[in-house]
Amino acid sequence: MLENIVLVTGAGRRVGFHIANSLHRDGYHVLAHYRSRTPDVQKLEDAGIETIQADLADSDSIMQFAEALKFRCHTVRAIIHNASSFTPTSDDLVEAAQQYHQFFYVHMMAPFIVNEALRDRMRGEGGAPADIVHITDINVENPTPRFDIYGTTKAGLQNLTLAQAKKFAPDIKVNAVAPGPVLFTESHSQEVRQQMMAETPLGVEGGAEPVYLAVKSLLTNPFLTGVSIAVDGGRRLSKR
Ligand SMILES: NC(=O)c1ccc[n+]([C@@H]2O[C@H](COP(=O)([O-])OP(=O)(O)OC[C@H]3O[C@@H](n4cnc5c(N)ncnc54)[C@H](OP(=O)(O)O)[C@@H]3O)[C@@H](O)[C@H]2O)c1
Repeated sequence: MLENIVLVTGAGRRVGFHIANSLHRDGYHVLAHYRSRTPDVQKLEDAGIETIQADLADSDSIMQFAEALKFRCHTVRAIIHNASSFTPTSDDLVEAAQQYHQFFYVHMMAPFIVNEALRDRMRGEGGAPADIVHITDINVENPTPRFDIYGTTKAGLQNLTLAQAKKFAPDIKVNAVAPGPVLFTESHSQEVRQQMMAETPLGVEGGAEPVYLAVKSLLTNPFLTGVSIAVDGGRRLSKR
């Protein structure tokens, strides 16, 4: 049975990969969750990081994931919910309904079930509270209408942060990190990238490291719960 683990979901690429790798480098016992077996998953395993596969696409697979975690983990130091789906809302209502289904499970139900299932196994260091961190988005406060299904389900995750911060205190702190433009995707055109940078006071694509630094600051601060740290170069202040 694994002891004192930090679970990172969606660690098979990009921000989640960076968080899992950096936590491991900094001495945490990481269990990295992935859906697709990418070259980055192999890199995590080559570095000695434990991994676990699951598609968090429906309630049965989420319940199975929670059971598998209970089977493998005796104590849990922290859970970082990073797994996410990100696509613009379809104009076709049948497809939009499928998107709601997909985003609801990965952004809202999976964190709720996993947190509840592992709650009794969570232990902080030296009597301090354990940690849950939800990776949300600045869209939670200032929505982008073209991504309204993504945004409303991330807003559900933000509300879960507040609800579980109350519910799990004083044993577990529950906080959020809300990124802005940290890593563009292939779907962002040059024009969109330039517009987003023009709306970002610090004027750069932030990268994964500032997200990790925010996660780490939450894990090391014993008196923060129910807060959201925007990691966005200030874009929330000027985003249309
Ligand atoms: N990138 C940004 O600039 C930005 C901005 C705002 C917020 N964020 C938030 O920051 C976090 C990381 O961003 P990112 O850009 O690195 O995300 P990403 O590239 O979209 O990666 C998301 C991860 O979640 C996994 N995932 C998606 N659906 C899943 C499912 N049904 N079951 C299990 N795993 C699933 C993916 O697995 P697969 O590899 O199998 O697809 C992938 O590893 C996300 O929560 C995102 O919403 C990012």
